[in-house]
Amino acid sequence: MSTVAGNETVKNGIYKIGRSAIPVNENDENPFVPGPQFYLPAGDTLERMSWAISSNLPVLLVGETGVGKTLSVRHLAHMTNNGFRRVNLNGMTTVDEFVGKLMINEKGTYWVNGILIEAMEAGDWLLIDEINACLPEIAFCLHSLLDDDRMIVLSEFDGRIVRPDPNFRLFASMNPHENRRYGGTKPLNEALLDRFPVSIQMDYLPFDVEVEVTMQQSGNEDRDLVERMVRVAHDVREAMKNEKVFSTFSTRRLIDWARMAAQFDPMEAAASTVLSKVNPFDAKVIEDILDNHF
Ligand SMILES: Nc1ncnc2c1ncn2[C@@H]1O[C@H](COP(=O)(O)OP(=O)(O)O)[C@@H](O)[C@H]1O
Ligand SMILES: [Mg+2]
Repeated sequence: MSTVAGNETVKNGIYKIGRSAIPVNENDENPFVPGPQFYLPAGDTLERMSWAISSNLPVLLVGETGVGKTLSVRHLAHMTNNGFRRVNLNGMTTVDEFVGKLMINEKGTYWVNGILIEAMEAGDWLLIDEINACLPEIAFCLHSLLDDDRMIVLSEFDGRIVRPDPNFRLFASMNPHENRRYGGTKPLNEALLDRFPVSIQMDYLPFDVEVEVTMQQSGNEDRDLVERMVRVAHDVREAMKNEKVFSTFSTRRLIDWARMAAQFDPMEAAASTVLSKVNPFDAKVIEDILDNHF
């Protein structure tokens, strides 16, 4: 593997970006290593994440939905040949699923690892999505992993102490907690937040990059049209900042819209890919914005 994108390089078993470098994992048998990702670097997010990874520090990614939080971790996992796993803590994930649980069969009780212990022992990277929505029991168990002793005690089981494999890395993502548009999320427990030494704010892609990403991923080759669509997205995001709409306009949504607009009229395509996903009040505001551009 020797892929080069933007200012990233992979040479002699080292992934390099800017001032940061991560050794490429030599294990070639890991089924959790993601395939190549279509990722266009924006700003110095990857460089800062890479620094944290090489310093063995957990990273908190903060940004609206669709800004590329998941993609950036998956991309780095691919580039460095590390396993990537993901869990969503949207309030439904229990400690049983996260850490593990005792099961019973005819021979007696046995322990089944949850995704956290699996990833810790396998030395994979674990991304915890929507960490701000996690249950207090889960927050509590993350404390001991994020504290200096960096371990989990399986007290429900046999009191075994689990320490992470040296390749294990922890990432967490959350939507900015100032806003309350995401059902079920509450401001992340300050004590938990404090335990992430590196927190990276991510914003939407710069205009030119977003046009490029949208064209490439949607297959829509009409640059002029896509540029107008990206302007619509910008106006909707601006309207959200000014509290005129509740829903944001993610890159993912832009891609869906552009894909359909390759065959349908842009307004017709917007009806099924944009307007149908928001509440009637937001739809009205977004329709006005669309009218300004089309
Ligand atoms: N830097 C980027 N390069 C390429 N595509 C991107 C980039 N950022 C966002 N995208 C597009 O936006 C989509 C959503 O990104 P994702 O990582 O799932 O967002 P988040 O986890 O922040 O909600 C991706 O699948 C991709 O299509
Ligand atoms: Mg995500």
